[in-house]
Amino acid sequence: MCGIVGYVGRQQARDIILHGLKELEYRGYDSAGMAVADKEGTYVRKAVGRVENLAEAVNREQPEGTCAIGHTRWATHGGATENNCHPHQSGRVTLIHNGIIENYKELAGILANEGRTPVSETDSEILAMFLDARYDGDPIKTMRECLPEVEGSYAICVLFADHPDEIYIARLGSPLIYGTTSDGAYVASDIVAILAYTDTYSVLPEGAVARLRTDEVRVITFNGRNIKPPVETVSWNVESAKKDGYEYYMLKEIHEEYDALQATLRPRIIHALPDFSADNVEDEFFKQVDRIVISACGTALHAGMVGSHLLEQLLRIETRVEIASEFRYGNPILDERTLLIVISQSGETADTLAALRLANERGAKTLAIVNVKGSAIAREAQRVLYTHAGPEIAVASTKAYAVQMGLIYLIALRFGLVTCRLDEPTVAHQITRLMETVDLIPDILAREKEIEAVAKELIHEEHLFFIGRGIDYALSLEGSLKLKEISYIHSEAYAAGELKHGTISLISEGMPVIAICSQDRLIPKMISNIREVESRGAKVIFITNEDYTGDEGKSQWRINIPKTDAFYTAIPVSIILQLIAYYVSYHKGLDVDHPRNLAKSVTVE
Ligand code: F6R
Repeated sequence: MCGIVGYVGRQQARDIILHGLKELEYRGYDSAGMAVADKEGTYVRKAVGRVENLAEAVNREQPEGTCAIGHTRWATHGGATENNCHPHQSGRVTLIHNGIIENYKELAGILANEGRTPVSETDSEILAMFLDARYDGDPIKTMRECLPEVEGSYAICVLFADHPDEIYIARLGSPLIYGTTSDGAYVASDIVAILAYTDTYSVLPEGAVARLRTDEVRVITFNGRNIKPPVETVSWNVESAKKDGYEYYMLKEIHEEYDALQATLRPRIIHALPDFSADNVEDEFFKQVDRIVISACGTALHAGMVGSHLLEQLLRIETRVEIASEFRYGNPILDERTLLIVISQSGETADTLAALRLANERGAKTLAIVNVKGSAIAREAQRVLYTHAGPEIAVASTKAYAVQMGLIYLIALRFGLVTCRLDEPTVAHQITRLMETVDLIPDILAREKEIEAVAKELIHEEHLFFIGRGIDYALSLEGSLKLKEISYIHSEAYAAGELKHGTISLISEGMPVIAICSQDRLIPKMISNIREVESRGAKVIFITNEDYTGDEGKSQWRINIPKTDAFYTAIPVSIILQLIAYYVSYHKGLDVDHPRNLAKSVTVE
């Protein structure tokens, strides 16, 4: 949802900003813009589309200056036009913004009465105008006075024309971090944008303004207190945010799933049992829980669905999985005996955050599974367990999904142990089976060429179905989402037995149906469903356990899953589905990492 970056220091700023924007492109790529401040005036360049379009213009014009800000946009208010592109300028103010100003109409009304009219359709320009209208030469005072009147979410970087060596920043709800080196001060939505220069950073607190100068960052709260936010160090290096010879991040990230799972799970397995003492999640936290609710969006939601099978089937605890964007409107049942688990790679997703806040308000226990350290969801949950996937850059989530599933398995097993639903030998056995499954990942990746060959057969399709039962239905939803998201092929995921209640009328001659059959006990039922679609002309891609030798209908292709425990097949199957989606998109010649209309973190409702 928009990426922002800024630099003030001893170096020419333009390349630092362009580099940062390139790294932040996963947050939106409808347009990009840059402002470079100088005593002579402020240079502003904007370009619709990818950062490379902006780079072309900037490299031609070579603006000079050591203080600059840049923005890459995911359009919310107003189309992807140059006019709506950031930075927005109003009088002495130049501003970039990530978030949504909810009361922008009200502010626009006040400004209209003062004779001020915007030139773009954006909420962000109204904020620039508002700051300019109240600006009296003291940027900190102006921001401290204006921002409490602004509702919604924002991370902003502001240049004031009469302070050309300073950047002013603030945030509410949207992420913003800053870091310093002997070369100057940097600010960005995400550390990846500035990781080439510094691996230490601070999260800008909400309700504060910071002034960035070459040699000093001053942070001051809205009520006038100077504060020093803690300095964090990133736990991965700049190399892990690089493509490493892969053509797309998505493929690289699929190949990183084994390491990510090891990094997430191994340190939490002590004497063969799951252990969260190093995460400060004490056993007491899991006690007196009668029901579990898992809430998340998109792929993270699908990880929750997979986890819920283990919780209900092995532990026999009632577990509901709720779409976060629907959750708070359904007046959900939440009390002190409910454990709400929220799952989020970015830790920023607005709907997931809202679900978490509601559960906190209603006195439920809340636990977050999050990949990004210090993110809003991580800060607001009562307990947090971090996944250690490292940076996930491709817009389509892959390795984050794998570690989310891995961590829910661990949570389920620890929960089972401390609530005496499971005994130690059972938990130890399950842990062994889980880690054996993780060890099968290289085996799956060795079949990549075979999976690619099947994917190639699908590139001209317009419609497709995924079917499965139980965990395989949850996997179908994820396989279908991944394929739609990056290949633009319309697909539907259906519970295999449900198809005949209406939707089977869509099955026509030659339509591909991907049938996921990883649960031995359900294969005979799946075979009946496969036969139903085949007799209506479907060509079936049969994904099943390698030791299955029974009836497989007239399936056109078969992809084998290495034999593993039924609870954990999601790990190998999801990699097969991710590779199918990847290679369909790749062979269609699409930009796999940047699917149209999307952004990596969705900070709007
Ligand atoms: C799909 C995808 C999205 C995210 C969803 C939630 O590939 O990445 O569906 O899973 O937007 O994002 P997080 O996990 O950051 O809350």
